[in-house]
Amino acid sequence: KPIQVLAISGSLRQKSSNSALMQAIMERAPENMTFSVYRGVGDLPHFNPDIDLDEGPVSVQDLRSQLKQTDAVLICSPEYGNGVPGSLKNALDWIVSSGEFVNKPTAVITASPTPMGGDKAHASLLLTLRMINAIIVEEASIMIPQISLKLNQQGEIVSEELQQQIDAVLDALLHAGSGGEEGSK
Ligand code: FNR
Repeated sequence: KPIQVLAISGSLRQKSSNSALMQAIMERAPENMTFSVYRGVGDLPHFNPDIDLDEGPVSVQDLRSQLKQTDAVLICSPEYGNGVPGSLKNALDWIVSSGEFVNKPTAVITASPTPMGGDKAHASLLLTLRMINAIIVEEASIMIPQISLKLNQQGEIVSEELQQQIDAVLDALLHAGSGGEEGSK
């Protein structure tokens, strides 16, 4: 049975480099790996425990069930104001109490046009995901600096180095998603 990966972009922008990168990763997926994209980040209500009654809002139920069903998660996110985009953090906040990330192999990629690669957002995402007991797939969790030089206008990868990094990401995700946990913590 192929490994199922849920891909989540932290950017709502139409021409997002992170979404383009996520697309490029999905297109290079090996045969035994299938991706689906969670597109609801921008449609979730602001996290509020007061409305997290019964199963919670319908959009939140959908996020929770997609997370529950997947073998692994891939997050590709920009950094805004030295932090995690509010909409992505909001999505994660909905999962703190419900626990769908517990023991879920999760790859965290941040891409930025700056030389820092979104390091603050990356570190912050790891803090949050570890707090909710996700298994961070270390070899698949990378920061990508100068992303604007590595994608063309169509969002295709023009950097050999990035291409190789992506193959390593897919390898690590495949291994982690099929139950291997070496190299993950
Ligand atoms: C940014 N950007 C940015 N980049 C970064 O590395 N650290 C940061 O703190 C910020 N802050 C920031 C704030 C605002 C208001 C904007 C508009 C942009 C730049 C950001 O990385 C760049 O716009 C990316 O292209 C956004 O990612 P997507 O949408 O291309 O995936």
